[in-house]
Amino acid sequence: MSARVLRTTLAALLTAALVAIPGQADAADSKVSGGRLDWGLKTSFQNYITGPIAKGEYRLTGGAATAGSNRFRFHSATGAYDPGSGDFTAGYSGGVRFTGHKKEGGDYELDLLIANPKVEIAGGGGTLYVDVTTPAGTSHGVAFADLGVGGLDTSGGTTRMELSDIPATLTAQGAKSFAGYYEAGTELDPLSLTADMSADKPDTKPSTKAGDGEFSGAAVDWGVRRTYREYVVGDIAKGSWSLTEGAQDGGALFRFGEGKGFWDARKKALDAAFTGAITFTGQGLDLTLTGLGVTVAKDKGTLTADVTSAGATTEDVPLVTFAAKLSEKDGLVRLDETPTVLTAKGAAVFGGFYPAGTDMDPLWLAVPVKSGAELPPLPDLGEDVAATQPPASIAPAAASSEVDADGFMPAAYWIVAAVALAAVAATVLLVRRRRPVPESTVTEEKE
Ligand code: HEM
Repeated sequence: MSARVLRTTLAALLTAALVAIPGQADAADSKVSGGRLDWGLKTSFQNYITGPIAKGEYRLTGGAATAGSNRFRFHSATGAYDPGSGDFTAGYSGGVRFTGHKKEGGDYELDLLIANPKVEIAGGGGTLYVDVTTPAGTSHGVAFADLGVGGLDTSGGTTRMELSDIPATLTAQGAKSFAGYYEAGTELDPLSLTADMSADKPDTKPSTKAGDGEFSGAAVDWGVRRTYREYVVGDIAKGSWSLTEGAQDGGALFRFGEGKGFWDARKKALDAAFTGAITFTGQGLDLTLTGLGVTVAKDKGTLTADVTSAGATTEDVPLVTFAAKLSEKDGLVRLDETPTVLTAKGAAVFGGFYPAGTDMDPLWLAVPVKSGAELPPLPDLGEDVAATQPPASIAPAAASSEVDADGFMPAAYWIVAAVALAAVAATVLLVRRRRPVPESTVTEEKE
């Protein structure tokens, strides 16, 4: 395969790499399905937030991560690409919430969430759109920055687009997020992105059998939600949970095994049904999840369950969704600590305690697609995690009414939760982090 690498002669540092698919120069529109965006917003803003004036912090949401110094990584691109004109759109997931200037009541003077950045390149110009959330509400798709892509030729059939250090300047609309401290035209940090393309052609062939296969012996591990478990055993529900039909209790993680299903290696899609049940009981609480299922298609996964609540059962309820770029390694198709997000139907299962879109516990999946492949052990999270009694104040019953539409807890909740965490569960959470994170500035690290 020949590769075509474009480098612009822009005064700025913009470089672009387009990898060509031979013979597909006239290809129909491509879909963007996968890729990452690295961007720091504005380094001086980050420093201001965490510095002595704002005395604040930032938190990563929706699976965003940090990437190198001063950059945030947004993930799971979706969008479209026209190789003929070079027009290109890619929307990424994840967000960063900046808080600072804490008020006496616990709220913040400065509370800004920038999420789901979307890059659009068309007609020689480029725009970065983001969702902006402040205590006043959320504005979706705000044209936030102008991108300096003039002179960049993005046309030509490609499998992958890589753009580095695209200059970005604040628009007038974007400037509104900064209380007058930045004006339109202010230089922001440059951004870099990748986007993987797949030809958008109707799939006429039935899926080939090569590498496809039925499997058995798969497992999915999921803890539902930390605050939910704490609520169940806490002072409000005064309850407990029990695992039956072969489900295993890992303290903060439950394993549903004996998973059977079908793996499509070509499409990187799978369907799996697991055994095991978990029942949560307590005051005003009787919830059973059983018949768990995982489906993955187009890099997106859904966890379903048969849900019995107050004696009534609903089958195959989609509980959470997650990004799932699957591949096989050592005979296993695996997902490790993948962030999950509550669906609208899942929200109903938890009595509306958590709105749709709330971050739920991450999920692990292990599917043996070759004989002899061994499942990883259920992570050992230490003893007595299940039995730990959290302070009543962090139970979701107290917090739920204050969770806003995007699943964010208000400052008071975070403070109480942080204190309680330090006292009760810090060890559990810290051993789960892959690498140390400066706690003062990043309170959540996923991916
Ligand atoms: C209690 C309210 C606030 C006070 C007392 C305050 C104070 C200040 C001060 C003194 C600076 C100058 C920092 C420096 O030059 O190093 C500054 C910068 C800044 N403030 Fe605030 N601020 C407040 C609220 C806000 C709000 C609500 C926003 C909205 C996002 C905001 C955004 C900014 C920005 C963008 C800068 C410039 C940061 C940079 O790039 O250097 N501030 N603020």
